Amino acid sequence: MEAKLKIAEEFAFAAVDSRLYGSFVEHLGRIIYGGIYDPEAPDSDEKGFRKDVIQAVKGLNTPIIRYPGGNYVSNYRWEDSVGPVEKRPKKIDLSWKSIEPNIVGLAEFEAWTKKVDSSINMAVNLGTRGIEDARNLIEYCNFDGDSYYANLRREHGHPEPYKFKTWCLGNEMDGPWQVGHKDAVEYGKLANEVAKAMKTVDDSIELVVCGSSGLEMDTFGDWELKVLEECYENVDFLSLHQYYGNEEDDLENYLAKSEGMDRFISGVTAICDAVKAKKKTDKTINLSFDEWNIWYHSKGEEEANKNWSVAPHLLEEIYNFEDALVIGCLLITLLKHADRVKIACLAQLVNVLAPIMTEENGEMWRQTTYFPFAQVSNYGKGKVLTPYVAVDTYDCKEWKNVKKVETIAVLNEELKELVVFAVNRSREMCRFSVDSLDIPLDFIVQFSEMEGFDIKQTNSVQNEMVIPKDSKNIVIEDNSISAVLQPLSWNMIRIKIQESFF
Ligand code: AHR
Repeated sequence: MEAKLKIAEEFAFAAVDSRLYGSFVEHLGRIIYGGIYDPEAPDSDEKGFRKDVIQAVKGLNTPIIRYPGGNYVSNYRWEDSVGPVEKRPKKIDLSWKSIEPNIVGLAEFEAWTKKVDSSINMAVNLGTRGIEDARNLIEYCNFDGDSYYANLRREHGHPEPYKFKTWCLGNEMDGPWQVGHKDAVEYGKLANEVAKAMKTVDDSIELVVCGSSGLEMDTFGDWELKVLEECYENVDFLSLHQYYGNEEDDLENYLAKSEGMDRFISGVTAICDAVKAKKKTDKTINLSFDEWNIWYHSKGEEEANKNWSVAPHLLEEIYNFEDALVIGCLLITLLKHADRVKIACLAQLVNVLAPIMTEENGEMWRQTTYFPFAQVSNYGKGKVLTPYVAVDTYDCKEWKNVKKVETIAVLNEELKELVVFAVNRSREMCRFSVDSLDIPLDFIVQFSEMEGFDIKQTNSVQNEMVIPKDSKNIVIEDNSISAVLQPLSWNMIRIKIQESFF
């Protein structure tokens, strides 16, 4: 099988916003307690944060982390999570039927994000709370004047405002499971008033309003339209959430699930633009795909949890090699929409639906999905080039004309490299060529591949075996790259561009 990708600088259609490689930390299961924070762990720092986890998160190069939920935010009382730790109340969390000890609160989490070179994408509770609470929270976090909540923050040891830039207006408010679930008009009106109040306190912030919690929601489409009708002028992003899975154990169909993501993004973009046209405004709403991942191995655990304990084992997906290939396809799909998707958050970061796992005995390991994410977030920066690719297609249960190779190229001006990502979805080997029309290629920096594993192979604390390795199956000739993509493989090609180009 052959695949031919044509690239040129003039095919550039978007600059990657680094927030495309965001992540998500919710007060859920063992993400915080036993995950990022564990004073008992042998390798934790003076504040109780695990150093091995910090290192692994840094490897993911994630510049923004959505916090503190998720479903959790809909019954979040931020006041419980600030001030002296010994005075903070232990609270019940309705969304995950757990106990929240509030040991790691806003200040501790913010300090942790600095340790991992990241920042917070903060959420306000629009489930059980509303305008006044959101106003107080942003005053506490971002206000620099002489006022009650700004002074309270100072009293708590933070003279400078946190200056969180990106804020989510609640979470999945369309979902009947959400504490304080609302209908679209009710939510849209509330979001609009909250947005106005928050931007009055700090007009430099950007606000994400909730879209649907999945394409399968009966209200999808109408929800987006009605919500945006109410708040278009006061918000900046609309959110998308979607999890993928292989419940039917159908590999060809599973590898094509990114087609669903592609259509979801195109559909939501069209809805945003329809409201834009209707409102006769110049303002464009961009997208925040602020929950995406694979979630099916552990489905149902959340309903079974009735223990009301601190940090229960919940949603601890163990990912295999086929999941890593799908993550690769989903990342490429996000890049294909980098003109409108400016924020995306892999949900989540540690232990829960996570690329990083910790063990109770203090060990840490990386899942199969860690590696494609780390490669794209570290190298997939710069200008995205429209992928003109000639390749055979296949039909599967849900999709027709699925490309056997999913691929995209990024012109990384910082590194002076052309970076190509590709998933070979087929069970055949592929002769892959990248013909550069106007970018003078110099030499191969790296050809990295994940291939040859049993499709169901997982990593574990004993064995991180599903990892990328370098390949020599690549040459450059006449400004064209020829590489061999192994059957069912994830690939990253990095090529140095000649100095004359810059
Ligand atoms: O990521 C787990 C949960 O999935 C989040 O809390 C919620 O927003 C979504 O339904």
